[in-house]
Amino acid sequence: MESLFGDEPCRPTVALPPGAHHVPGFLTLEQQRWLVDRFHAWGRGPVPPRYPRVGGHPMSVQSVCLGWHWTPGRLTREAIDQNGERVPPVPDWMVRLGQRALLAADGYEELASAYQPDCALVNYYDDDARMGMHQDKDERSPAPVVSISIGNSCRFRFGNTETRNKPWVDLELRSGDLFVFGGPSRMAFHGVTKVIPGTAPAGCGLTTGRVNITLRVTGLA
Ligand code: SIN
Ligand code: MN
Repeated sequence: MESLFGDEPCRPTVALPPGAHHVPGFLTLEQQRWLVDRFHAWGRGPVPPRYPRVGGHPMSVQSVCLGWHWTPGRLTREAIDQNGERVPPVPDWMVRLGQRALLAADGYEELASAYQPDCALVNYYDDDARMGMHQDKDERSPAPVVSISIGNSCRFRFGNTETRNKPWVDLELRSGDLFVFGGPSRMAFHGVTKVIPGTAPAGCGLTTGRVNITLRVTGLA
């Protein structure tokens, strides 16, 4: 007899430093598909996806920005490294999604209703893409970062606030998962060491690669 509970066993959780939270299965497949459709729409302009250049080299991840355009060390309203167009604003539904994310992450419930992310970085990883250990430090606000993953799973490395080296925790972020880091972990180094091909669930909207959306409060005017 078909069961309503799916066939996925419970996933083991790993101990994370204070302020960091992993919420597996935050989004339904339908929500994931809807977000992938939005991702394709953002890619059609006004500012198309690009491989940001860091230290003169293109990253392996393609990126589109909402609210503020990210280049290393700088957040601007216009795509200064591309066509100079203003990036679209963060939509209201995405602000509410950020608020729901904080409600779902232990310890952030009280911040949820005041959370007003004004920047979203939407990254596409093909199956060979990676992201090196870095801090999200171009924002002035200490508000938490909300991260949502869709498509193939990845190995996510979450480290410490002092160095890009150990100690760190490796965990798998799967399609529909939420990860929040704020408070004492807001400035923790983190990165993506591997995308795991063939792991996107049917119906998530992607058959290859991975989309990650991070929501941030810049504290900029
Ligand atoms: C990021 O650090 O900006 C993205 C992290 C991820 O792709 O999970
Ligand atoms: Mn980051």
